[in-house]
Amino acid sequence: MQPEISWKANSVVYHLYVRSFKDSNNDGIGDLQGIINSLHYLSKTLGVTAIWLSPIYPSPQVDFGYDIADYKNIDQIFGTRNIFDTLIKKAHEHKIKIMMDFVPNHTSDKHKWFQESRSSKNNPKRDWYIWASPKSNGQPPNNWLSHFGGSAWALDATTGEYYLHLFNEHQPDLNWRNFLVEKEMLNILRFWMNRGIDGFRVDVPYVIYKDPLLEDEPLNSNYMEGKHDPFDMLLHTKTSWQPEFYQLMKKFTEVLQEYKGKFMVTETWTDLPGLIKTYNAAGWKYFQPFNFSLITLPWRADIHKQYIDEYERALGDLYIPCWVLGNHDKHRVASRIGKDQARIAAMFELTLHGISFIYYGEEIGMIDGKISKKKVMDPYEKTSPGLDLSRDPERTPLQWDSSENAGFSNATPWIPINKNYRKSNIATEMKDPHSFFALYQKLIRLRKENPALSEGKYIPLFEPVENVFLFLREKDSQRVLILLNFDDKDKKISLDFKDAKILCSATMKEDNKLIDLNNFSLRGNEGYILQL
Ligand code: NOJ
Repeated sequence: MQPEISWKANSVVYHLYVRSFKDSNNDGIGDLQGIINSLHYLSKTLGVTAIWLSPIYPSPQVDFGYDIADYKNIDQIFGTRNIFDTLIKKAHEHKIKIMMDFVPNHTSDKHKWFQESRSSKNNPKRDWYIWASPKSNGQPPNNWLSHFGGSAWALDATTGEYYLHLFNEHQPDLNWRNFLVEKEMLNILRFWMNRGIDGFRVDVPYVIYKDPLLEDEPLNSNYMEGKHDPFDMLLHTKTSWQPEFYQLMKKFTEVLQEYKGKFMVTETWTDLPGLIKTYNAAGWKYFQPFNFSLITLPWRADIHKQYIDEYERALGDLYIPCWVLGNHDKHRVASRIGKDQARIAAMFELTLHGISFIYYGEEIGMIDGKISKKKVMDPYEKTSPGLDLSRDPERTPLQWDSSENAGFSNATPWIPINKNYRKSNIATEMKDPHSFFALYQKLIRLRKENPALSEGKYIPLFEPVENVFLFLREKDSQRVLILLNFDDKDKKISLDFKDAKILCSATMKEDNKLIDLNNFSLRGNEGYILQL
């Protein structure tokens, strides 16, 4: 086995929803050449060290690429395999690593495996998917639900059996209990690593295994119709987190360890013990389950403090955390907690110990777009409308400048640009030394330049006053204090730190000043990174 080269704990990964990032051929859809043309922006101007690309494989795009028709190719709307090779090469020249999205749970119904599988009960690929006979009354085999609404089973007329789809009916679930499926999928990881990519983000791995007996799931007694996502009507004890999931994570990491310097992050919506169990099962430092707590927990200092202290304690020196404020499935952070607090959140995420993922547009405080009923694109909203489940708002094109179509494309974009783009865009933000963009730029730079922020331990401190978060990062002789006001109200604090130098303030207006934290008034929506 070759020695590992680590992904450093101060890595910053830019999560790029490819179709919304930059369109180079003016068809209204972002593409690979658009990314190549933006590498300078990513590596030099912003300073990120890696990019994660949403799925770029050939796909009917029912779920915008999460329905893959060929795992070893590139969809022509994004480019070609040659262009992808160029992207890998050029990104590496810019010292940017590349992560691909790996979607192991389901394929598109247009994938040739499924086409074969559905053709007859005797086809050798039949068992590559999950088929079951109807109940005696013709109904689906059990009560399992699709994440996007309705039954998880679709009746296939050719053979009169149902196939399982935990997402859209055009996304049939693979049967990982068939070892040929496992073998083929692990080889797909190797295929892309052989072409030079540096890591993967894994889509919903915790649903890969289902109860082989196909037993019903129990009802969720807390479910309220019309208020909750219909998927939450059941407790998903038979379709997620089965014991085999943990063994599979180990297999994934073993494949990555055949190579050098690879990394894997998994989509893992679970609680703290669930995350620790996943880390321990995979047992490899460069495997990390996403920690989504900055998205899911209420935005309060005490709640986050309790969680992070416990998490850091549990990970110890064995594993590195992985933080994220937003993604293509959740409302944007600046819409969830407001623009002022989104600055505090950025400061928080980028000073915590561990790898940070930035969702494209977060660097300018992009907010959710408003998508009219006529323009709905998301299959989730189409099947479960009106419950604020649509993911279209957080997928609007990146706002590059104030020109028509926000500098994203010369054609009408696949999804409407956010109306605020003339004011809120990268070009405008770059001119303002106190902007969101300036803050991100500085935070990323500070992470690289300060050993305490790149490698230092997270040292929990007390909550000095209600809704203020305080912690230390420490490495050798460097000590950096992070003080964050989670409130819009001013706070009186008194800490025994004199002559602390402000490396960065959330408003960017007080950088480089010396302050005495004894008897100090911390303004609302303000935060500091302080050199002690
Ligand atoms: C999670 C992805 O993030 C989401 O966008 C997708 O719809 C589902 N998995 C299904 O692949």
